[in-house]
Amino acid sequence: MFESLNPVAMDPILGLMAAFRADARTNKIDLGVGVYMNDRGHTPVMTSVKEAETQLMQLETTKAYQGIAGDPDYNQRILELLFGADHSILNAGRIKSIQAPGGSGALRVGAEVIQRARPDAKLWVGVPTWPNHIPLLGSAGFEIKEYPYYNRDSHQVETDAMMETLRQVPAGDMVLLHGCCHNPTGADLTHEQWDLIADLALERGFVPFIDTAYQGLGDGLEEDAYGLRMMAERLPELVIASSCSKNFGLYRERTGSITFIAETPEQADIVAAQAMSVARQIYSMPPAHGALLVSLILGDQQLRANWEAELTEVRERIQSMRSLLADSIQNNAAGIDFSHIKQQRGMFSFLGLNTAQLDQLREEYGVYIVSSSRVNLAGINSSNIDYLGSSILSVLK
Ligand SMILES: Cc1ncc(COP(=O)(O)O)c(C=O)c1O
Repeated sequence: MFESLNPVAMDPILGLMAAFRADARTNKIDLGVGVYMNDRGHTPVMTSVKEAETQLMQLETTKAYQGIAGDPDYNQRILELLFGADHSILNAGRIKSIQAPGGSGALRVGAEVIQRARPDAKLWVGVPTWPNHIPLLGSAGFEIKEYPYYNRDSHQVETDAMMETLRQVPAGDMVLLHGCCHNPTGADLTHEQWDLIADLALERGFVPFIDTAYQGLGDGLEEDAYGLRMMAERLPELVIASSCSKNFGLYRERTGSITFIAETPEQADIVAAQAMSVARQIYSMPPAHGALLVSLILGDQQLRANWEAELTEVRERIQSMRSLLADSIQNNAAGIDFSHIKQQRGMFSFLGLNTAQLDQLREEYGVYIVSSSRVNLAGINSSNIDYLGSSILSVLK
């Protein structure tokens, strides 16, 4: 039967990773793949995670099934992390969160539940968005519609064009928003833009679907949650997919959550039961290890303080690489302004280089950047910044 299958084109980013691995040059630089790297170019296990793993070894007495919703303690702690322990929504009975396999699994469960509730709902995504949003959410059955998000000339969110399109979104449709640290542009919504979108959601009757995969990597754990906290106060319904892959460095442990806010506690119970029925049909139960670690870290004062300090280090390192890169290529011969890189947040920004320049960077200098010219700022470190800056300047000449 398998003879009827066609070969699948390799995801370009995986192709780029393979080419990087095969490159024998010792000064090669990987700015492609979206994982955090420290100043030595490693993606280490956080020490708070290591400590929690040591504790878990002693505490864990069974590997029996945990249940479709995952660990109840983790679910509660994630709600407190997302919304802050004092947020009024946490006591309203209208909110439910269940564990999911990473942010991707959370997005998928959310999409399937929305499809069950409203099979005709369209999903509006900003242009550009994380490329995997389209197949991940589209294959759940959504018709995908687009709204303008980022202007490549001004390097800013295109507020007017975005709002004009969102004003046309029919009641009942879903609007996908990035909670913080927009991937791929690094251009986040301001508080004012978040407020305007909430006004429109109330006026038009569309429902925001917030993907928050980088809480704590932008301006801080509290600051990065502004949009979803404000919307949870103001809107009757909300769907949030969140991930612990980046802020706990738990990429391979597949640790995420899907959270629903419904109009009434009764509806919230039903939506959670529907989410569990969706999960049962796809993967049955989420993996336990990552969620148990997160639960231990968030529940222990010392571990939490250590984790927050490590996360601050991650955030500050990325921000300082933004400044170093922008400064090192600022006065380039091509006259291109790179100052936006400093203002943006999270792991990514667009460099604005064309295909020929990106090819030249890869072939002549061993600098690997995806074709959209999105760079992972965490791939920059004190050993490669000078070489990187001069390589970029050379291809701009
Ligand atoms: C915007 C966005 N959403 C979701 C995810 C998925 O994260 P996870 O690895 O937890 O599935 C990513 C990962 O890169 C992302 O960038």
